[in-house]
Amino acid sequence: MGTDIKAGIHTVTIAGGPLAFPCGKDDTILSGGLRAGIGLPHECLSGGCGKCYFDLAGGAVEDIWLEAKGLSPRARERGRRLACQSRPLGDCTIKLRPDPALAPPIRPARRPARLVSRRMLAPGMAEFAFAAEGAARFLPGQFALLQLPGVAGRRAYSMSNLANEDGRWEFVVRRVPGGAGTGRLFEMEEGAAVELDGPYGNAYLRTDTGRDIICIAGGSGLSPIISIARAAVADDELLEHRRITVFYGGRGPDDLCTTTFWQENRRLHTHAECHVAISDPTAAGAADWTGHRGFIHEIVQKVLASADMPNFDYYLCGPAPMVEALVELLETGASVPRGQIHYDSFF
Ligand SMILES: Cc1cc2nc3c(=O)[nH]c(=O)nc-3n(C[C@H](O)[C@H](O)[C@H](O)COP(=O)(O)OP(=O)(O)OC[C@H]3O[C@@H](n4cnc5c(N)ncnc54)[C@H](O)[C@@H]3O)c2cc1C
Ligand code: FES
Repeated sequence: MGTDIKAGIHTVTIAGGPLAFPCGKDDTILSGGLRAGIGLPHECLSGGCGKCYFDLAGGAVEDIWLEAKGLSPRARERGRRLACQSRPLGDCTIKLRPDPALAPPIRPARRPARLVSRRMLAPGMAEFAFAAEGAARFLPGQFALLQLPGVAGRRAYSMSNLANEDGRWEFVVRRVPGGAGTGRLFEMEEGAAVELDGPYGNAYLRTDTGRDIICIAGGSGLSPIISIARAAVADDELLEHRRITVFYGGRGPDDLCTTTFWQENRRLHTHAECHVAISDPTAAGAADWTGHRGFIHEIVQKVLASADMPNFDYYLCGPAPMVEALVELLETGASVPRGQIHYDSFF
C-alpha cells in the first residue's frame, strides 16, 4: 500500500514489524492507527499526556500543535513527536511499540453532528446533546473529539449517556473561563453543526470482573462517571454481585449537579451510593453545607477506610492533579493493582 495521492492517503509503517496502516489527510498518525484497529499507545488524544510519543524513522510529518504540553522542549529537540498531534506528509515510518491491549474495542469514526439540546445543570455546567447519523456506539466511560466551528484543534468530551440506536451523543461540559472550545460550545445555537470523532478512550466500564465499582470524579469529570454508573445500574446481572459507589467533588455546592441525575434515574437512586464533597470553604453556599468537606481523594480515603480497597475496580475522571493524587493514593497507599485503576485525566 503506497501513497494514494488522489485520496490524500499515506501509508504509515511501524518500524521493525509487519504493521502498516493508511492515514487520511485529516487524520493524525494516532487516529489513523486506531481507526485501523492498531493498539498505538495513547490516552488523551489532546496533546497532554505524552503517552503517544514516537520517533520518526523515515518520511515527513506535520506537527499540528507545537505548543502541546505532552512533550518537553528537550524531547522535541531530540526529534520526538506526539502521534495525536502529527499528520503524515507522505508515506512514513515510525518507531514505537504497539500494545494489543490498547486496540480500540470499537473502531472510531468521524461523522457530522448537530446540537439538538442544551440544559444547564449548575452555573457554568451544562449537558449538551448532539444527533448524528447512524447508531451511537461507544462503551460507558469513553470520549469523542469535537471539532467546533472556528476553534483551532479538537476538544475531547466524554459521553454521559449510553450507546443507543438513535445516534444521540450527550456530554456534560464545564465552561472554562477564557477557554476557546467551551466558550464556543456554550454559545452555539441548537442546530449548529460540529464534527464528532469517536469513540476513544480506555477508561471504559469492565463488566466481567466480579469486583465492586468505585467511581470518582472531580468537576467536569462527572460526564463519563454518569455514563458508567448508568450502565452499571441498568445491568441486572452485574447488580446481583456488585455494589456501585460514586464520589464527586466540586469547589462549592453550586458545582455539584449529581442530584439531577439521581432524581431522574430511579435505579441510580436505589442502586448507586453517592458521596458528594466541597473543597472550598469560601465558595457560595459553603457555610450552610452539611455534607463532606475536603478534596475528593481525602473523602475517598475516609469513607473507604475500613473497606477492602485492593478488591474494587476504580474509575477516575477529572483534572490531571486530582487523578494523579488518586492514583498515588490507590496504588501506593492502598496497594490496589494497576489493572484495576482506569482513568482519564482531563488536560
Ligand atoms: C479524555 C478527555 C475527556 C474530557 N472530557 C471532558 C468532559 O466530559 N467534560 C468537560 O467539561 N471537559 C472534558 N475534557 C476537557 C476538554 O477537552 C477541554 O480541555 C476543556 O473543555 C477546556 O477546553 P477549552 O477549549 O474551553 O479551553 P482551552 O484552554 O482553549 O483549550 C484546552 C484544551 O484544548 C486543547 N487545545 C487547545 N488548543 C489547541 C490546538 N491549537 N490544537 C489542539 N488542541 C488544542 C488542549 O487539550 C488544551 O488543553 C476532557 C479532556 C480529555 C483529555
Ligand atoms: S494521546 Fe497524545 S498526548 Fe495524550
